[in-house]
Amino acid sequence: MTALITAGGRATRLRPITYTINKHLIPLANKPMIFYAIEKIAAAGITEIGISVNPGEEELQKAVGDGAKWGVKITYIEQAGGPKGVAHVVANAKAFLGDDAFLFYLGDNIILGSLDRFVRAFEEQKLNCLLALSKVKDPQRFGVPELKDGRIVRVDEKPAEPKSDYAVTGIYVYDKSFFEAFAQIRPSARGEYEISDVHSRLIADGKAVGYEEITGWWKDTGKPEDLLEGNQLLLNEMAEGSRDGVEIDPAAVIQGRVAIGKGTVIGQKVLIRGPVAIGENCRIENSYIGPYTSIGKGVEVYSTEIEHSIVFDDADINCSTRIVDSLIGANASITSAHATLPLGHKLVVGDNAIVEI
Ligand code: G1P
Repeated sequence: MTALITAGGRATRLRPITYTINKHLIPLANKPMIFYAIEKIAAAGITEIGISVNPGEEELQKAVGDGAKWGVKITYIEQAGGPKGVAHVVANAKAFLGDDAFLFYLGDNIILGSLDRFVRAFEEQKLNCLLALSKVKDPQRFGVPELKDGRIVRVDEKPAEPKSDYAVTGIYVYDKSFFEAFAQIRPSARGEYEISDVHSRLIADGKAVGYEEITGWWKDTGKPEDLLEGNQLLLNEMAEGSRDGVEIDPAAVIQGRVAIGKGTVIGQKVLIRGPVAIGENCRIENSYIGPYTSIGKGVEVYSTEIEHSIVFDDADINCSTRIVDSLIGANASITSAHATLPLGHKLVVGDNAIVEI
């Protein structure tokens, strides 16, 4: 079996962060999001992985490489004509996928646990298509299955009136009948080839479409709050690692699971309450770092309280206040309004930024 991962798209709901970084490289628990997908696929014993990227993408290839570090071979596939829908990603990779069965994974989905059970169910039940379902509060945001007598009878994409409280998650297994179904669908009102239309087509054509329910945690990281929740989940799972090359002031207090990278200095009057991940070469002084915070490399935090947030590399924070539920982009600078006159909030805020003061 081969695997195909999506790593393109527009990610408009994550602007301005995604103006300068491919969404799939956004760090969660200090690791690019797409690494989790690759790790899980490799752990399921799949060694041939295709990654679909936007035309002209270079950053992702640089960050991910050829797959050797996971013991897999990665092939990059440009989505011809740019983002045209999830189903189009698969059709566009037909030459890479060939006639074999394949696992399809939307690179912005995060799950706990292994992918083995999906592959196994697909094989044991001799299916043409296996969908992974998850119960959600807001099915309107997803592909939604209609179930009758324990079988899926159709799938609607983002329906106003969902027929069940399940989402079809971004983890799928198919055989080559995918391509016959794709040939029969047309773009939706939003101009995309919808994966849900492929699923409804497969069912209407009498193909064997089965499902497995994800009972653990699953998240589609479409919005900033989803990223924070994904970060939270992955910090819970994270290993603490070694503290080699880390300098910690004897008076600093570190509670719970806290990973700290080489070259980082934790100065005086610091309280860190895990789970927290701090990257290499950071400097933290006179600050509180609260649970579910990830801090990238080269970050400086002075006189600040920060909790349940993601701070990207090289940000500089020194603001005598409490920051919560925030995404702080690379090289961003947040300083105290009291440092220069006149007093007041002084902002250079990028396009589409969101600031709650
Ligand atoms: C896509 C699919 C949708 C699925 C979701 C899962 O939606 O179209 O059927 O439920 O992924 O993450 P999108 O995230 O492209 O809006």
